[in-house]
Amino acid sequence: MVQPITKAIFPVAGLGTRFLPATKANPKEMLPIVDKPLIQYAVEEAISSGITELIFVTSSSKRAIEDHFDTNFELEYRLAQQGKSDLLDLVQKIVPKGVDCIYVRQPQALGLGHAVLCARQVVGDEPCAVLLADDLIDCSTPCLKQMLNVYHETQASVIAVEKIAPEDSDKYGIIAVDKSFKGQGYIHSIVEKPKMQDAPSNFAVVGRYLLSGKIFEHLSRLTPGRGGEIQLTDAIASLLKEEKAMGLIFDGTRFDCGSKLGYMQATITLGLRHPELGNDFRSYLKETVESF
Ligand code: G1P
Repeated sequence: MVQPITKAIFPVAGLGTRFLPATKANPKEMLPIVDKPLIQYAVEEAISSGITELIFVTSSSKRAIEDHFDTNFELEYRLAQQGKSDLLDLVQKIVPKGVDCIYVRQPQALGLGHAVLCARQVVGDEPCAVLLADDLIDCSTPCLKQMLNVYHETQASVIAVEKIAPEDSDKYGIIAVDKSFKGQGYIHSIVEKPKMQDAPSNFAVVGRYLLSGKIFEHLSRLTPGRGGEIQLTDAIASLLKEEKAMGLIFDGTRFDCGSKLGYMQATITLGLRHPELGNDFRSYLKETVESF
């Protein structure tokens, strides 16, 4: 029987230097896209894919994330008193019943692989999901759900990928796959942020992983890789020597909200679709673009 995946790791300890000064005192994961913080999009994707344990790997400057997923007694009390039941419902549903939040500290910023390794005690040797909240993935079927479908078919680790421009190879983990790769296929190898001329393909890893429980063993044996950091990509490369992993081109759109342009693109797309604001926002955008 396929081992179910119920745990997801959210590495949220990073400094967010690309968004300074906005992220000087605020975690980058708490930046809103329209009216929801980035991290909540990733959490909702996980929950709607069947995840019930949310493991946040945080650092000292990320307290706002814990507060966001906790109850806020004063706010809830006042909303109830004012009869604002819609808003009360909205804040109370952020973490639905049956879903638990667990917080683990990453004491030093030693890289994504190290952050994932910090969750080992909580995950044990089970397979788990890893979601990077910087990548907001907009899909009709949640990206993680699409990946879980592949996991259930193949029982292999699954990594979400998308085609990128070759000159962007040095921003991503890049997978090597068969020339005929379309949609999904086994990964032969993976390399972190290669130069364009060294990239084994144009398929880049986006921030969604379903990983075998064995990943922790591989992570624990790593020495620092690219940028002097413990890289998750290197642990996957090592895992591939023992186990299979699938690359999946998900059906949907990824916004790189770790970059200012991607963040603005996500804001515009989700703003246009917003049930209350969409129409007014569309008219405003049209007028503004025409008058520029
Ligand atoms: C991380 C990973 C990289 C992956 C990317 C996806 O890089 O190390 O392999 O392609 O996330 O967003 P980062 O963006 O943290 O530099």
